Amino acid sequence: MKKELQVAIDGPASAGKSTVAKKVASRFQYIYCDTGAMYRTVTLKAMQTNVALDDAAALATMLTDTTIEFKPGTPEQLVFLDGEEVTMAIRQPDVTNNVSTVAAQGTVREDLTNRQREIAAAGGIVMDGRDIGTSVLPDAEVKIFMIASVEERAQRRFKDNAQKGISTPIDVLRQEIETRDHKDSTRAISPLTQAADAVLLDTTSLSIDQVVDKISEIIEQKRREL
Ligand code: CDP
Ligand code: CDP
Repeated sequence: MKKELQVAIDGPASAGKSTVAKKVASRFQYIYCDTGAMYRTVTLKAMQTNVALDDAAALATMLTDTTIEFKPGTPEQLVFLDGEEVTMAIRQPDVTNNVSTVAAQGTVREDLTNRQREIAAAGGIVMDGRDIGTSVLPDAEVKIFMIASVEERAQRRFKDNAQKGISTPIDVLRQEIETRDHKDSTRAISPLTQAADAVLLDTTSLSIDQVVDKISEIIEQKRREL
């Protein structure tokens, strides 16, 4: 019988992780978990309820009374915070610019890591984020570290934003991406870094389908070996 695998996809902002992870999950009929959406949802709640974004203890208290749910939706999964849909709200620029501060707090990471492991326990999973291969699912059978040049990532985010009616100039986007990557890579707890056993995938000049095919081949190969 073919084994259901854990697939961890990490990398910097706008490398294409979530777009590709969703398609890979659907190809193998695995669960898809967008861990960035969870950090964004916690950030949104802290902003809405005036919890200081760097107050680890207050954020931990807030999380004891916080539900985050994913539900199927078209074209993307819907995200719910305490029963309210927040799919679009968590993508707004003010959340994007604050999320790295919240994500640096150890209490938040511990809480969300536990939730992510519970989701992964359900079966075959594709999970994307920053610390999946290094911290959340260190035994994942497939680990991908996805990168692309910062110019390409800013272009991709610009096009993506245009479809959502957000019109941040491209040079501002590039700066925001670099600032967020720096914060995510230099924080003390589970920083963004390539796991020793991850496959490095540079997607700068690859289409979404080409990346999906490459990762699918790696999964198929792993399934044959196990
Ligand atoms: O999609 P985008 O690249 O904008 O980022 P995201 O995946 O939605 O993640 C938003 C932020 O959450 C990241 O910049 C990190 O600060 C944080 N994050 C994290 O710390 N650990 C994860 N596993 C996922 C996201
Ligand atoms: O999740 P992450 O922040 O890494 O990136 P994403 O939100 O999946 O991708 C950002 C944008 O890049 C999306 O609009 C994708 O359609 C696009 N993309 C692309 O043009 N080429 C790729 N190989 C991967 C993603």
